[in-house]
Amino acid sequence: MERLMRNTLLYLSRNRLAHRTAKRFGLRLGASRFVAGVTVSEAIRAVTGLNEAGIEGTLDHLGEYVETKEAAAEAAEACLHTLDEIEKAGIRCNLSVKLTQLGLDFSAGDCRSHMRRIVGRAAEYGSFVRIDMEDYAHNEPAIELFQSLHNEFGGAVGLVLQAYLYKSEADLDRLAVYAPNVRLVKGAYKEPAEVAFPDKSDVDRNFIRLIEKQLRNGHYAAVATHDDRIIDSVIRFAKESGMPRSGFEFQMLYGIRPQRQRELAGLGYKMRVYVPFGRDWYGYFMRRLAERPANVSFVLKSMFKS
Ligand code: FDA
Repeated sequence: MERLMRNTLLYLSRNRLAHRTAKRFGLRLGASRFVAGVTVSEAIRAVTGLNEAGIEGTLDHLGEYVETKEAAAEAAEACLHTLDEIEKAGIRCNLSVKLTQLGLDFSAGDCRSHMRRIVGRAAEYGSFVRIDMEDYAHNEPAIELFQSLHNEFGGAVGLVLQAYLYKSEADLDRLAVYAPNVRLVKGAYKEPAEVAFPDKSDVDRNFIRLIEKQLRNGHYAAVATHDDRIIDSVIRFAKESGMPRSGFEFQMLYGIRPQRQRELAGLGYKMRVYVPFGRDWYGYFMRRLAERPANVSFVLKSMFKS
């Protein structure tokens, strides 16, 4: 039953009509629990609050799978504007981007040139841009673009690898020459058993394997999870192997386990929260619901309240 609900929500997350309809409205269906606002100033305000609690931010101007050159160019401008506003506000925050928001689906060339401007601007500011990892079809193009941007801009760009994919360990090995800053996650999309572990326990085991490999290589690991078993195992591993805390950080999503975020920051671990904002919240929101069916009842309650 839970798997069916998850698959349905993930299917709906890619529904273009629902996407377009949702975009016309403000934050509905309880989305404001996971999305910091519609404007960049609302998002900056949210990160300022996090910074005050000793937590860093990464802003995500929401959007994905855009279909026109104009929409991709508009999204690129929004990313540049976000970097400018982060710099102006002087907050401790970087940027995360999705390549399908920048036109990857219809023009790899446009996407590359948008990314060169965005990462170039971040490098100017001494900031950092992370390429979020989307579904399997976009995995190799994202890795290739990361490699070319890293050759040009060095450590101003980072990547995400997903523990549910069989290929991620080999990807980590081949990317080791870049000493990359990698965010490691379980993986949020619906993927077939040909490419991804169907069992959660295998995903968790692979997640720990990837994190430990990245740390053993001496490369920066952003461990993005709300799962205490994973967090505890990273803390244990770092202690037992004498890894400095500066070699890794924890990341969680805005609105999820805020108390735990503060606790980890209070214990002296670097903690970063992923703060999405913008009108295009639908796909992101549906993936959050799919991860935790308990969130669906929260949404239903908030619908009946309004
Ligand atoms: P999982 O969902 O397996 O939950 C494990 C345990 O965590 C639960 O049993 C519970 O104890 C606790 N927990 C989880 N959610 C909770 C909640 N709402 N309240 C209380 N406890 C909760 N994916 C991707 O494919 N590409 C990407 O680029 C990214 N980027 C990204 C950035 C950041 C900062 C994060 C945190 C996550 C991503 N993800 C992602 C999403 C990721 O792949 C994954 O889908 C989610 O993080 C959910 O998996 P968890 O590791 O949190 O554990």
